[in-house]
Amino acid sequence: MLSDSTTLVSSDYTTESGSMIKVENLTKKFGDFVAVDDISFDVRKGEIFGLLGPNGAGKSTILRILSTLSSPTKGTAIIGGHDIVKNDTEVRKMIGIVSEKMIMYNRLTAKENLWFFGCLFGIPKDVLTKRIDELLELVQLTKWKDAQVGTFSTGMRQRVNVIRALLNMPQVLFLDEPTLGLDPQSSVEIREFIKKLNKENGTTIMITTHMMVDADLLCDRIAIVDHGKIVALDTSKNLKKLISGADTTVLKLEIANLVPKIIDSIRAIECVDAVSQEDDTHLRIIVHGDEAFDNVVDAVRAEDGKINAMENLQPTLEDVFLHITGHQVRDSADQKIPMGRHRRFEAPQGRAR
Ligand SMILES: Nc1ncnc2c1ncn2[C@@H]1O[C@H](COP(=O)(O)OP(=O)(O)OP(=O)(O)O)[C@@H](O)[C@H]1O
Ligand SMILES: [Mg+2]
Repeated sequence: MLSDSTTLVSSDYTTESGSMIKVENLTKKFGDFVAVDDISFDVRKGEIFGLLGPNGAGKSTILRILSTLSSPTKGTAIIGGHDIVKNDTEVRKMIGIVSEKMIMYNRLTAKENLWFFGCLFGIPKDVLTKRIDELLELVQLTKWKDAQVGTFSTGMRQRVNVIRALLNMPQVLFLDEPTLGLDPQSSVEIREFIKKLNKENGTTIMITTHMMVDADLLCDRIAIVDHGKIVALDTSKNLKKLISGADTTVLKLEIANLVPKIIDSIRAIECVDAVSQEDDTHLRIIVHGDEAFDNVVDAVRAEDGKINAMENLQPTLEDVFLHITGHQVRDSADQKIPMGRHRRFEAPQGRAR
């Protein structure tokens, strides 16, 4: 993917356990507020690992601590054998970070921006020149290299932002909401680029997102974060199995005259785990047990609801999130919407701790 001058360092940086990142009992408090609450997890070398959660869940705080931009209140993490607190300089040499805010100078051209940041890394000039050209080519911005980034579309700016984090050829790349605010086409391009980087260079990638599609299409494993805790951690496929077992199903209901009292009466049913309203007429309901279908229909009819359609759905990650936390990913963590009954999820042993 990249020439010899930009080939990744071949040393094996993994920890004794084979993980590239090992997080242990990480906690971050802002005053009395606990933003990250005693979390532990491992990220394997060459893995794309996702932190999925609503606004305010603590995703960026975790990423900022791992990338040494903020210090933990308690606990620590080892990245490529280096402690983020005791050996922060070594950690910085081997990571790249794309933060929520794009970091670049609008009046400088794409090339000038990259040159500026490359010089901060202390990369020798001949290596840097070649690397910038290759990276620009990689994200198809070569013909725009001499244009001011202030004239770029958001998608183009994000592409510059991402390659800026690759100038030091990091072993580990942290991406904070890399597709936020991008149009669908630019999001696809960024996702493709992340996949390519991971596949061809073996870069370990940790990504935060509240977009289901990013988590689903990109990540080898996903940690679902809510209120500073990891409430589940597994592959997308296995997470979905949590609600596609023999007992649990997702129902989609179209109700012509959908009103709050109908939703309340569905929520009150014992076999209903969670309810989310998709639009004026559609509900998504996670249910368990043989009687669920009949009970939901009875509850709607008891409130004079008119059911137009009802179907069984394949669960999505949104359903998984709803099932585990009782609220939707698009709800922010501090505006938790009561969703009635929902079952707490017990994290599998040895995974999310
Ligand atoms: N420097 C700070 N001082 C005080 N509180 C903070 C600080 N940084 C973050 N927080 C709080 O910690 C919580 C977690 O914030 P964080 O930015 O990590 O969430 P997030 O999951 O990244 O959310 P989003 O999806 O909106 O980016 C929030 O309630 C936030 O207000
Ligand atoms: Mg964030």
